[in-house]
Amino acid sequence: MHSEIKEVLISEKQIQEKCKEIGAQLSEEYKGRFPLAIGVLKGAMPFMADVLKRVDTHLEMDFMDVSSYSGMKSSGEVKIVKDLDTQVEGRDILIIEDIIDSGLTLSYLVDLFKYRQANSIKIVTLLDKPAGRKSAIKADTIGFEVPDEFVVGYGLDYNEKYRNLPYIGILKPEVYGG
Ligand code: XMP
Ligand code: MG
Repeated sequence: MHSEIKEVLISEKQIQEKCKEIGAQLSEEYKGRFPLAIGVLKGAMPFMADVLKRVDTHLEMDFMDVSSYSGMKSSGEVKIVKDLDTQVEGRDILIIEDIIDSGLTLSYLVDLFKYRQANSIKIVTLLDKPAGRKSAIKADTIGFEVPDEFVVGYGLDYNEKYRNLPYIGILKPEVYGG
């Protein structure tokens, strides 16, 4: 599987150090509170686990699955595949994402949680791809900025593969027929 990767963009070590750093920052920010951390499935799963295990305050976890992507292109249309089990009203929401590309997924989620009367909403994303932006959304915390390339690994997939890589990489073009 690793032979299908052209280049490692962000190493396992860099990711783990960043998770420690963000975890410490969130521990300060949410001290004495009980935030609701919401992971956006499936991509945010490894990042969410690695960041939240570094957070030194009580928190609740829930997951949402929304889809706007098939293959390598965003359809631009967001739909809820799995909703939360938890009430959002009055809660401090911490959205955890793998990557912000167009920003359409997150602007949809932020609007939804505002409508559901969250007390506060913060966004933590492992990756930011500013070149893809189609909405005005900005994350409160960004792990790494990435160039305008399709990246895989550490939660991010190409046709459901590569999510289990411990690093972020770029696929060889022959893998997707490019
Ligand atoms: P938007 O465009 O709504 O997209 O900000 C967010 C979701 O799109 C997926 N995405 C990617 N997945 N490599 C991937 O594997 C990429 O380079 C990439 N860019 C966007 C991802 O699921 C993200 O949550
Ligand atoms: Mg995602």
